[in-house]
Amino acid sequence: MHKTKHPIFLLFFSSLLILLSSSQSKAQYNTLWIPDTLSGTNFNLNIKDTFAQIVSKGNQTITGGINGKFWGPTLFIKKGDVVHMNVKNNLNDSTTLHWHGMHLPAVMDGGPHQIIPPGTLWQPYWKVTNNAATYWYHPHLHEMTMDQITKGLGGLIIVRDSIESALALPRKYGVDDIPLVLTDRDFNTSNQFVAVPYGDSMMVNGTLRPEFSIPAQVVRFRILNAAIERSYNLGFSDNRAFLIITSDGGLLNAPVSVTRYLLHAGERIEILVNCVSQSGTSLDLKAYNSTLGNFVAGGEAFVNGPFANALGKKDFNILHLKIGAITGSPITNIPSTLTNNKTLNAADAVVTRKVTISDSAGVKVPTILGPNAFIINHKLFKLDRNEYNVPLNNTEIWEITSTSVFGHPFHIHDVEFNILTVNGVAPAAAQAGWKDVVFVPGKTGTTPSVVKFIAKFDDYADASHPFMFHCHISLHEDEGMMGQFLVTNSSTGVKALQKSEHAFIVYPNPANNKLYFQFNNQEMKAYYVRIINELGKTIIMLPSPELEKGIDVSSIAAGIYLIQLTEFGTKILITQKFIKE
Ligand code: C2O
Ligand code: CU
Ligand code: CU
Repeated sequence: MHKTKHPIFLLFFSSLLILLSSSQSKAQYNTLWIPDTLSGTNFNLNIKDTFAQIVSKGNQTITGGINGKFWGPTLFIKKGDVVHMNVKNNLNDSTTLHWHGMHLPAVMDGGPHQIIPPGTLWQPYWKVTNNAATYWYHPHLHEMTMDQITKGLGGLIIVRDSIESALALPRKYGVDDIPLVLTDRDFNTSNQFVAVPYGDSMMVNGTLRPEFSIPAQVVRFRILNAAIERSYNLGFSDNRAFLIITSDGGLLNAPVSVTRYLLHAGERIEILVNCVSQSGTSLDLKAYNSTLGNFVAGGEAFVNGPFANALGKKDFNILHLKIGAITGSPITNIPSTLTNNKTLNAADAVVTRKVTISDSAGVKVPTILGPNAFIINHKLFKLDRNEYNVPLNNTEIWEITSTSVFGHPFHIHDVEFNILTVNGVAPAAAQAGWKDVVFVPGKTGTTPSVVKFIAKFDDYADASHPFMFHCHISLHEDEGMMGQFLVTNSSTGVKALQKSEHAFIVYPNPANNKLYFQFNNQEMKAYYVRIINELGKTIIMLPSPELEKGIDVSSIAAGIYLIQLTEFGTKILITQKFIKE
């Protein structure tokens, strides 16, 4: 019996092998998805629950998308423009949308305090003062950031300015200027995302096993580490050198040639890769994570438990690149200088803020992952506790001392900073420009790590809304590794009006298009305006609205509404009724 069956088994197994290998070569690569683009000064972002065919076979994956099925559009904005965002939350949950790296008023920042309830439109706006570089936007709802980023919510922001535009750099989006959003994800057996710190599958722009054709010229990649936790030690399979041209917040003074670059969660770099005369060849962008230390995210080789994953302490492929034909008007040379950064001078600092990072040593945290959260200033984050009042226009040194054994990418809102030293050593050229994330290494033996950076807190003071600083490992952030500061302005005392002076009328009433305000007292200013429906639900949230331009109510349904205005000086709430025709 065995003898007769044996050949059939062999036949069965060999055809299975053929099947497997042929389906594998077919399924080996997927074409890299390039996010859509939006540009101008007015942006509509619709955050929603949706689904996408991410795994090539079987179920679609339940995702979060902004305008599309996964991730969001790349926003092109120009330094000097005032940009208006119309952020509609069509999720079933509350969320926030944070403009990572942007210098803007705290009330527009989209941190954990600017909660957008389901069904509500949030309309922040700001003048773009950031340098040309690659930034991003993502949810920042406290304790939900990891979940909401895992679903795929986020997007890139590309800032243009006159300095960058004058350089001969690749600038054809999706052709020779290619966005790469790096993440890794875990899928369950029905192809659904599992919110864990480390995934088993590398993804670029939401594409598993991606490949992309690039032209045989100088190509620019804008690389964001959007992972929940993992750092990626980037390099090419032929060990070629590539040139780093930006750090988080702008151009470097000159391109920096490297063969490896370790990019931590939240960080961005733009690189140039010279592919001149290489048509017909291919190469891989890889993560050389086998060389990472045990206390850098992705350098641990956990076999069991919540941190176990298939990519830990391994080298793995990120993106397969095929070099094709040259395009019209290609960039074939790399400029030798880029800009002239006026970095901040330590002698100008008026204060040194001492920040600590440590293990929580048993402080109970709301997590499935155990009691060993990491904490800042020996406390878990609380939404109602302010750590620092930073006087407007202060230049400050932030000195972060870490007794944690693990390394943490530390991020601060509001400002771009210059790293002064990491454990006493000045930063390498690729880190010597503008940054908004700095990697704070784990302690060495019993010696804590010390990172110092310098920043200037200009333009935006707000005694009510704080800015955040936190570890950009979303898991650590959600567990409470975060703090907040206010930028305060004592010199221009805000005039607090008497309560009796608080009154306004809205007109025309009924309205169908634009609503205007008339104040009882001319000195009255709006800090916040909310439009609330008859059920008490906030429909539109307008931080610091430009009331002289009127409020656009054309999109809301006919009915009776309340306009709730928070007065600037006193923060008193005043409401008026209006009828939408
Ligand atoms: Cu990208 Cu507060 O974060
Ligand atoms: Cu941020
Ligand atoms: Cu951390």
